[in-house]
Amino acid sequence: MADDSLKPGDTVLIQGTGGVSIFALQFAKMAGATVIATSSSDEKLSRLKAMGADHLINYRSDTNWGETARALTGGRGVDHVIEVGGPSTLEQSMIAARVGGHISVIGILTGVAGQLSFVPALVKQLRLQGVLVGSRTQQQDMIRAINANGMRPVIDRHFPLSEIVEAFRYQETNQHFGKICLDI
Ligand SMILES: NC(=O)c1ccc[n+]([C@@H]2O[C@H](COP(=O)([O-])OP(=O)(O)OC[C@H]3O[C@@H](n4cnc5c(N)ncnc54)[C@H](OP(=O)(O)O)[C@@H]3O)[C@@H](O)[C@H]2O)c1
Repeated sequence: MADDSLKPGDTVLIQGTGGVSIFALQFAKMAGATVIATSSSDEKLSRLKAMGADHLINYRSDTNWGETARALTGGRGVDHVIEVGGPSTLEQSMIAARVGGHISVIGILTGVAGQLSFVPALVKQLRLQGVLVGSRTQQQDMIRAINANGMRPVIDRHFPLSEIVEAFRYQETNQHFGKICLDI
């Protein structure tokens, strides 16, 4: 059975600057990985760089970003992809991945269904794993790692619970960087 765990020196590809991807950047850097980060915004890419992202790609101006990411690894391909886009991004993710690479299928920001070529998955013997939150033990392990490394979660904005609708409207604008929180 292939080892899916992240090792120092591995390369991780993250998509965009939402809550999941920013946490992924922080955990990947904490574990000694090289991070290739994408965003639709050059201003957000600068913020990703300041947080330690090693390589930056604007996925809006570079629609072949999977190939660009692969080239950044010297042609080998990335070890891990944090897939938050879903149907419209998965094909580029597969292009970015190395032979035997691992894709964590987490998000569906581009929708629940779509058309894509499965050829890269076959040719590269990729491993796609659905991820749906985690267990209590995994949460405790995560908090221990956050505390041990002094990691600070990136919170873009807080809203009181009574403004939950405004919070979701703000999330829809995609202006945020990291998490949007509700104060309860
Ligand atoms: N499976 C699970 O357990 C789990 C847990 C949490 C969330 N999720 C899912 O994971 C996804 C991400 O969650 P989130 O909380 O991080 O969302 P979010 O904060 O709303 O993420 C929004 C950001 O995603 C980026 N994005 C949007 N479309 C993109 C595309 N086509 N390609 C690349 N990046 C794109 C944009 O970044 P830029 O502005 O930088 O371009 C946008 O600002 C959602 O579908 C959510 O439902 C799943």
